[in-house]
Amino acid sequence: MFFRKKYSIAETGLLQGMSDIHSHLLYGVDDGMQTEEETFAALEYLEEQGVQRIYLTPHVMENFPENSSKSLKRHFDNLINGYAGNIDLRLAAEYMLDSSFESHLENYENKPLAIADDCLLVETSYLNPPLNFHQTIQKIKKKGYRIILAHPERYLYMDKNDYRKLKADGFLFFQLNLLSPTGYYGRQVQENAEYLLKNDFYTFTGTDIHSLESHRQAFNIKSLTAKLTDRINVLIENNRQLLFN
Ligand SMILES: [Fe+2]
Repeated sequence: MFFRKKYSIAETGLLQGMSDIHSHLLYGVDDGMQTEEETFAALEYLEEQGVQRIYLTPHVMENFPENSSKSLKRHFDNLINGYAGNIDLRLAAEYMLDSSFESHLENYENKPLAIADDCLLVETSYLNPPLNFHQTIQKIKKKGYRIILAHPERYLYMDKNDYRKLKADGFLFFQLNLLSPTGYYGRQVQENAEYLLKNDFYTFTGTDIHSLESHRQAFNIKSLTAKLTDRINVLIENNRQLLFN
């Protein structure tokens, strides 16, 4: 019987030189890292793995009403002041498309926190599409932003038709969670990620790291075939192009 050899993310070297565009490393503002110690331990680990640049993308959503561009910049400055490592840290945010979203989009004094100047990282609920999903996308587009849709493989309400429709517009890009193909979020999400990878739906990838321990374990799960690794490598290169050009 023929078994295809499988590799862990740590073994593939995917993290070497990576520019991560999705992380919850800004401590004390969402469901990610809670203390400076946790954040610095995670950054030390990621630096050992070869990560070069990271956008910190805390959740901006109704559940975290304190989070605004202004308050997050303050938290970010605080973190940077204490950070002695070598990763190039930047601030953006992950915007939930809920009823609070437009107030952030329309705020002229404190503009939304974008990746590479004009890319907004957005997410939706896992179970239901947002109200007026299409209109919201058009509004973001009108403001001159490109959209990076975080982890489409995790939205269980989406089917292959939805993926195709979303991608058809040409200014909305899919971001794979690096751990989705390992089975970290369950079998269904893993299958969705494999389908989206094999059919070239993704443009970017990100760790979406919330805690060091769970990510460190998952980075060592042997689950990636050489072919899938090659496909993810293309996304890693796109991340690099986005952030270093
Ligand atoms: Fe996230």
